[in-house]
Amino acid sequence: MNVSCANFNRTGDVMIVPVFKGVDKAPNNTTVGLGRGASIAVKAAATSEGISGKVGKSLSVWTKNCTVIFVGIGKKEKLTHKIARDTGAKILSGLSKDLGSEIVVRFTSGWSPENMTAFAEGMMLRDYVFDKYQKTDDEEKHNGWKLECQAHERHLDYLTNSLKSASLVVTGVHLARDLANEPANHLYPEEFGRRALDWAEGKDNVEVEVWDYARLKKEGMEGVIAVGKGSFRKPCMVFFRLNPDQQKDQQVPCIVGKGITFDTGGISIKPTQGMWDMKYDMHGSATVFGLFQALWATGYEGRVNGITCMAENMPSAEAYRPGDVIDTYSGKTIEIFSTDAEGRNVLSDGLWKAAELNPSYIIDLATLTGACVVALGQEASGLWSNDDRLREKIHHAGNSVDELAWPMPLLPAFEKEMTSSKFADVRNGGKGRYGGANTAAAFLKQFIQEREDENGGMSAIPWAHLDIAGTAWNVDTNYCVAHGGTGVHVRTLHHLITQG
Ligand code: BES
Ligand code: MN
Ligand code: ZN
Repeated sequence: MNVSCANFNRTGDVMIVPVFKGVDKAPNNTTVGLGRGASIAVKAAATSEGISGKVGKSLSVWTKNCTVIFVGIGKKEKLTHKIARDTGAKILSGLSKDLGSEIVVRFTSGWSPENMTAFAEGMMLRDYVFDKYQKTDDEEKHNGWKLECQAHERHLDYLTNSLKSASLVVTGVHLARDLANEPANHLYPEEFGRRALDWAEGKDNVEVEVWDYARLKKEGMEGVIAVGKGSFRKPCMVFFRLNPDQQKDQQVPCIVGKGITFDTGGISIKPTQGMWDMKYDMHGSATVFGLFQALWATGYEGRVNGITCMAENMPSAEAYRPGDVIDTYSGKTIEIFSTDAEGRNVLSDGLWKAAELNPSYIIDLATLTGACVVALGQEASGLWSNDDRLREKIHHAGNSVDELAWPMPLLPAFEKEMTSSKFADVRNGGKGRYGGANTAAAFLKQFIQEREDENGGMSAIPWAHLDIAGTAWNVDTNYCVAHGGTGVHVRTLHHLITQG
């Protein structure tokens, strides 16, 4: 989608006019650029019962050169960026390219430039299809929308920048969705690595490094190896570095992603219904990759590190099994209760490694537990942290972009449970199913290193864990996505890192 902004002038092929509830005349400037006859029809429609101003309710008026669509946006005082974004997304999803590809949106009085940007962002986010494996006639192929946001002169400088930035962040969201939507036969661990290397090619302020199976073996990354060795497609670890030469003497964020390109459950195999969509079990890694794209595209100048732990969890003669004790990169051993609790195993190595990069904080993203979906549904990701300030910042960043991250407890009792193995240092499953998302987080905490603090004592590196099992895939209430991967938290983390 090509996005720009301008004064009220042209009409485009499709003109969208948001209307507030309780306003009973056409918003100012509605008819600028329309012919005489069209103006009369549009003005009449604007005061008809067909327009209630109720959020998302729309009325289309056909005129010879331009279809005008009024869309309700609710009461003026109640307008939020979420309403604006969702309405933009909803309207876009209903547009047919048969009407033409030039869209104009007229933001009349009552619109802040932030809300205008959110509306346009909703349209951009929703403007996404994943059809690379479908044969579509060239006829049907869309050449892309052209969007012009029209507003009062005084907003145009702000809008030019904010729309540009939003559209660049969206490239990262769409990349994350692409990766999540890729089927596991096409996107396996090393293919993810290859794509990351491809992405880095020709960008002089990014570096990607892939540790293959041999390297993982050499480094002792047995958490990743144990999970991945049952597959013909071998595991790997991918390191993303943005602006590696900047801020060398400073601590910078490190973002870690779970990248299970397919989760069968392994020897603790999943039942049929729980398995079909497990290609998205690498959405944590997809978010990391998408975040780096968003940061790079928007020209972020700080240094950032990313680590994705890639493996395919398969049952086979070479697969790991329940009862196995794994020697992880950290030196701590893990007793395997279920090979289906594989995400935490690969993250144990990724998190331990993250500490070696001297991070200001570590955030991991993982489609980690079904229990998190039971707890929070699909409206919010679970958020655990060992650091109140970091938790607060992530929670706030999530609210700012309407990707909710809901605080969850990291209780000592959960840690105790996860360190009560009779054969190893840590166990990869709780004693029962209760609190399964919390015990998973408590497991991860065992792999967060301590370091010397300014008082000469030792303290844990600030770390937060986002369980995105419910928010990463097929979220019916997310208007910004039709189906499939959502690209969740690319925007949250972009906001956190660039504005936090
Ligand atoms: N990838 C799954 C978690 C998951 C479930 C994500 C449903 C999205 C939707 C994870 O690897 C898993 O299988 N977790 C187990 C943990 C259990 C064995 C302790 C689970 O949630 O059942
Ligand atoms: Mn699993
Ligand atoms: Zn999994």
